[in-house]
Amino acid sequence: MRHGNLLTSKQLTRDDVERVLDRAGSLASDPESVADSHEGRLLGLLFFEPSTRTKMSFETAIKRLGGDVVDMGSVESSSVKKGESLADTVRVIEGYADAIVLRHPQQGAAKLASEYVDVPVINAGDGAGHHPTQTLLDLYTIREQAGLDDLTIGIVGDLKYGRTVHSLAYALGNFDATQHFISPESLRLPREVVFDLHQEGASLKEHESIDEVLSELDVLYVTRIQRERFPDENEYRAVAGEYQLTAETLERARDDLTVMHPLPRVDEISPDVDDTPHAAYFEQAHNGVPVRMALLDLLLGDGDE
Ligand code: NCD
Repeated sequence: MRHGNLLTSKQLTRDDVERVLDRAGSLASDPESVADSHEGRLLGLLFFEPSTRTKMSFETAIKRLGGDVVDMGSVESSSVKKGESLADTVRVIEGYADAIVLRHPQQGAAKLASEYVDVPVINAGDGAGHHPTQTLLDLYTIREQAGLDDLTIGIVGDLKYGRTVHSLAYALGNFDATQHFISPESLRLPREVVFDLHQEGASLKEHESIDEVLSELDVLYVTRIQRERFPDENEYRAVAGEYQLTAETLERARDDLTVMHPLPRVDEISPDVDDTPHAAYFEQAHNGVPVRMALLDLLLGDGDE
């Protein structure tokens, strides 16, 4: 963030996180205070993969700051279809927009893009790599629901391909969190992430069953099996539906357990969980707006730094 880009959560210090979260908190309670503060500023949206929340909340955030978006639209309708390289595309968009928000199937795409342009590049998801702005809104939600200190969190589902998981795991290394990673053997957290977390002194354990840890958790972070990243559909089918959280499962959890999910969900959280006091995933999605407002406010240079 110090260099104007947000590429992975590894670059975020505890101070960076707290600055964004504090600013988001004040914007959530008084959004009018910044209503026209970024009038005329344009955010370039380059989404090479589907998105609902990330794209629309970035758009909402910049509009609430008084700015607007220029949107490449779908890959199908852009010059990417004609074979244009990512490097060329971002060099063009740099001339239109004050910052670029990029989602791309290739891991490392945001970093690559940042090497070609001078405007800030925000990684909105690079393949199975990182999704740092999701992490900021996840941390905001965790702070609101359970607090970030002495946190015991379970992270379940597709830990191999889930970029929200990788980003969250690194960022939690800044806090004294105990992280329980729950997945089938074939979808465990990548070994390099585990290695890095150990190097940082993070407290972590790996499990195959939610029941091994459910009763200890403050937060359970559920993720979708990332079907689009599986090289082979049969491999996906072998693990699909492996974990399904139901209201009945949650009877074995603490009363104050918070259930989160970056969404979209497929079948990993049953709809009967939605009406329990545990469910925080829709509020989590809504938190994307104040958090992205805070981030843009800081990255676009008119923040309170
Ligand atoms: C996530 C993503 O794109 O990585 N979605 C999101 O941004 N909220 C999670 C997912 O697609 O499973």
